[in-house]
Amino acid sequence: MLQKIKQTTDFIQQCVNFEPEVGIILGTGLGNLVSDIEIVKTVPYSEIPNFPVSTVQGHKGQLVFGFLGGRKVVAMQGRFHYYEGYTMQQVTFPVRVMQQLGIKLLIVSNASGGMNTSFQVGDIMVITDHINHFGTNPLIGQNIDELGPRFPEMSEAYDHRYVKKAFEIAERNNIHLQKGVYIGVTGPTFETPAEYRFFKIAGADAVGMSTVPEVIVARHMGLPVFGLSVITDMGIGVIEKPTHEEVQKAAAAAEPRMTTIVKELVKEYDRF
Ligand code: HPA
Repeated sequence: MLQKIKQTTDFIQQCVNFEPEVGIILGTGLGNLVSDIEIVKTVPYSEIPNFPVSTVQGHKGQLVFGFLGGRKVVAMQGRFHYYEGYTMQQVTFPVRVMQQLGIKLLIVSNASGGMNTSFQVGDIMVITDHINHFGTNPLIGQNIDELGPRFPEMSEAYDHRYVKKAFEIAERNNIHLQKGVYIGVTGPTFETPAEYRFFKIAGADAVGMSTVPEVIVARHMGLPVFGLSVITDMGIGVIEKPTHEEVQKAAAAAEPRMTTIVKELVKEYDRF
């Protein structure tokens, strides 16, 4: 694994002479954040050795290198989901590569179903913590000691400083923000009403099919994480049957607000 990570990192460094400071994973409907990046170079996943290829509609599948808020960033336009059939190692491989490329902060975004009754469709939730409900873990197997410890601690998976900063940015820009716990599940089914209730009782505010594996791998390597989730449907009350199209639509509507927060955060990421 370590050899593969190094091989892929070397390949990318030969393609792009650019050391990113911040890595961003763009989730469902949020790929357009890329239009705010002053692009230096894009590299399609299909050209990158050891990278899986994205299969979900609405996901482009490329690494975008460039400037956002005056900072050097690398964005994953399209991520890999466990429900697509990739292994946990494949799902999280790009995060390990981005860390080797030099990123100092990982920003993750996703779409989720809300269970907190004070949430509304279209709200943006700052992720304060997560529950891994995938039934597996990307760190299962031989530990790669060069990357991190056998038993990583997860007491602050989502860095409190960035949570606080996000709320300051939101206030300055008149953006309504929520915060809460994200529970990650395999999908691809959306939840039954009983499952939404179960997750709410378990302490989760939103449920989605990504992010948790990538965050675990980032934290294993000691990489600070900031996460945003767009509430694209509600799992409590009158449940409108969620569809992939509705999820994408709600996520796209939240995109300008998400962009503002991410851009401002990136601008100041090392100044507090
Ligand atoms: N459940 C799981 N994943 C999701 C949902 C949901 O309700 N909405 C968007 N992604």
